[in-house]
Amino acid sequence: MHKKFFIKTYGCQMNEYDSDKMADVMNACDGMSQTDKIEEADIILFNTCSIREKAEEKVFSDLGRARALKQRNPKLLIGVGGCVASQEGDTIIKRAPYVDVVFGPQTLHRLPQLIAARRESGRPQVDISFPEIEKFDNVPATQTSHGTAFVSIMEGCSKYCTYCVVPFTRGEEMSRPLADVMREVDSLTAQGVVEITLLGQNVNAYQGATEDGDTVDFAFLVQAVAALPAVLRLRFTTSHPREMSQRVIDLYANIPKLAGHLHLPVQSGSDRVLAAMKRGYTALEYKSVVRKLRAARPDISITSDFIIGFPGETDADFEATMKLIDDVGFDASFSFIFSARPGTPAAEMADDTPDAIKMERLHRVQARIAALERQVSDAMGGTVQRVLVENISRKSEHELAGRTENNRVVNFAGSPGMLGRFVDVRILSGTMHTLRGELVAIT
Ligand code: SAH
Ligand code: SF4
Ligand code: F3S
Repeated sequence: MHKKFFIKTYGCQMNEYDSDKMADVMNACDGMSQTDKIEEADIILFNTCSIREKAEEKVFSDLGRARALKQRNPKLLIGVGGCVASQEGDTIIKRAPYVDVVFGPQTLHRLPQLIAARRESGRPQVDISFPEIEKFDNVPATQTSHGTAFVSIMEGCSKYCTYCVVPFTRGEEMSRPLADVMREVDSLTAQGVVEITLLGQNVNAYQGATEDGDTVDFAFLVQAVAALPAVLRLRFTTSHPREMSQRVIDLYANIPKLAGHLHLPVQSGSDRVLAAMKRGYTALEYKSVVRKLRAARPDISITSDFIIGFPGETDADFEATMKLIDDVGFDASFSFIFSARPGTPAAEMADDTPDAIKMERLHRVQARIAALERQVSDAMGGTVQRVLVENISRKSEHELAGRTENNRVVNFAGSPGMLGRFVDVRILSGTMHTLRGELVAIT
């Protein structure tokens, strides 16, 4: 009988990528297809995030709503995957006994078996083990009709920043072998993909095994992917400042295909806070990396992440963050109030800054970043940008949306045939996040 599955994704691009793989695995099962309407699903899968408390709460409130659907349709199966699943395991079943399967980021390829075992045994199934990177060997090749695609090059993180759950939810850093990554890129470009984003929590730490028993580093991998004629634009995320080696920085000088944008999370501008976070660099060292990046690629756009109100953050620490923002001139960035995550060292640190002060600091950072973001948008006015066409507007099929090298979305008039291709667009005007443009040329 024909059955439908529904997937909801929370969290980062790693989870987006994993959700696509989950869909590939499910689609490969007999008679299964994906739906975007939760009410008509036979199987509901949540791919969860636990990076901050709010993200985790959202999962449990959505689970409550899925439970209501299950009361109406007792055959409905509910699965929880991703980082909450990985961290909580059995506890999810205790807290939400109507959940049928719990699986981790490294066991998503076992979903069909877990679902079958649930049906046969009548008991909930939990598998959150870390079986190396076997998942990559067990998921079908991705089918895509888009011009841009993500390729995961590594799993996990071994940095253990004191506030972060990722090393616990995703395990230690583990790189995919070079040939695997290259095979996935080839399969995507064969389907018309022209832009590749290499993905990992800490891509700079890539150490990929080669077929003759050597290992290659991240800079080698980027060069290898860039050397493929079918790859027209290349990005990667996320990079750790401590591992921005000169070899990686030089890529921006030597590889024109590498988009002029880097997401380089700094978290704080205070050396004291950076040390308490165990980030492994000072504000000065971070600025020195930025200086070298700009020497390699003068117009590179640098975006970042900030944690506001880390335990013990004083006014002076916060002002150091504001100063760093001005010194560096970040483009669009994300900022979050520190969230104490159970089991992390920072959750045990004394945190006596009142919430109201944290909020005030957050608003100041966000206002400053927004002003910088607007300056960049304004400066783009009148310039011609090379844009990869990603979507047709929902409003009209003559309206397209694409992304510039510095990761800005541009809307412009064009035809659906341009989807997945590069075009040159003159920037007319823009609000902060989205620009308007007019087509100049199809490349
Ligand atoms: N691997 C990347 C990103 C990790 S998660 C890196 O190291 O930069 C994405 C962002 O979430 C982080 O950059 C950080 O700014 C934020 N974050 C992580 N843990 C957090 C916590 N406990 N509270 C608030 N923000 C957090
Ligand atoms: Fe978390 Fe730090 Fe690893 Fe990023 S580098 S995922 S913040 S532990
Ligand atoms: Fe969230 Fe896990 Fe990504 S905690 S940010 S989904 S790695």
